[in-house]
Amino acid sequence: MSILEINPNIALAKTLSTDFYLEASYLKESKEKIFSECWQFVGDLDQVKNNGWVTPVNLLENFLNEPLLLSRDKEGGLHCLSNVCTHRGNLIVEKACKLNDIRCKYHGRRFNLDGKFLSMPEFKEVQNFPSEEDNLSQLSLYQFGKLLFTSLNAKIPAVSFFKEMTDRIGWMPVNEFVFHPELSRDYIIDAHWALYCENYLEGFHIPFVHSGLNSIIDYGNYSTELFRYSNLQLGIAKDSEMSFDIPPSSPDYGKKVAGYYFWVFPNMMFNFYPWGLSVNIVRPIGLSKTKVSFLIYVWDESKLRQGAGADLHGVEMEDEDVVQHVQKGIRSRFYKHGRYSVTRETGTHHFHSLIAEFMNKGKSE
Ligand code: FES
Ligand SMILES: [Fe+2]
Repeated sequence: MSILEINPNIALAKTLSTDFYLEASYLKESKEKIFSECWQFVGDLDQVKNNGWVTPVNLLENFLNEPLLLSRDKEGGLHCLSNVCTHRGNLIVEKACKLNDIRCKYHGRRFNLDGKFLSMPEFKEVQNFPSEEDNLSQLSLYQFGKLLFTSLNAKIPAVSFFKEMTDRIGWMPVNEFVFHPELSRDYIIDAHWALYCENYLEGFHIPFVHSGLNSIIDYGNYSTELFRYSNLQLGIAKDSEMSFDIPPSSPDYGKKVAGYYFWVFPNMMFNFYPWGLSVNIVRPIGLSKTKVSFLIYVWDESKLRQGAGADLHGVEMEDEDVVQHVQKGIRSRFYKHGRYSVTRETGTHHFHSLIAEFMNKGKSE
């Protein structure tokens, strides 16, 4: 595998080599180098609303496949634990339920709701037992609104990924947004996960691909702000279109914002509209298969069918169509990489630079 390189000067840079999308070895390596080190959506506070509730979660199913468990202990403490019994590796909790303690069905090992080992039958003779290793591994949790995130190998604190977003939209009552399963949906796309993300990361294609959205958004005032591990695309509404009622405390006061499109590396999108929030989680399934979940959290139902966030499904169909064409295009022997628009593709350049940075960690130049 060659070293992935992205020139920090966008005017000189070439886009990511197509090897990254086409070679299975990169996808495999990205599990540890990108996905395990970053923060991933693991669930919602409502899944562990009351003391004693536990909910199993398969983190990035079909990719990382890490069996985890969200639990709320008797004192109300929230935990993200490994869902694998420390005896012989059975999966412990199979479905969401309320428990006094966690008991493995295979040979009866018991754990507290905070993951601490409690008891084990037929183990009296075992020496140096129990030890720390017999507790369920506990993972870090980060909370944003009702949303919970964890990292399998947290080397960079969650605030480094989320702070710019949480500060910027701090005036919105995100804790009160209500999850609407009937408005949420999953999409399966025949394309590499990174192709889906990099399409999201530029508004350059809006006039060409999204005629409906283009009639609502003021393309000339569309802007992208880059942060360390995240970025923001600010969609400004045309005069007659729905926009946020922004308070004076916000740096955006006075702007006619139609949508805040935050992206958090590597695979999470937080799209704020006057009606609420669409959290889009991009999950790799295979080299050219991706599952994207739109999780819809409503703030003001009366604004649901208006503005830039009125027709998310229609926009998604347009994006999928072009991204699936790109997937076919990058297989060509005549294409290895392209170049960036200096004014319109800073978000995509940022994304590619972060991929190269994470994938090259530990490799000599
Ligand atoms: S695997 Fe859990 S008690 Fe044996
Ligand atoms: Fe798009």
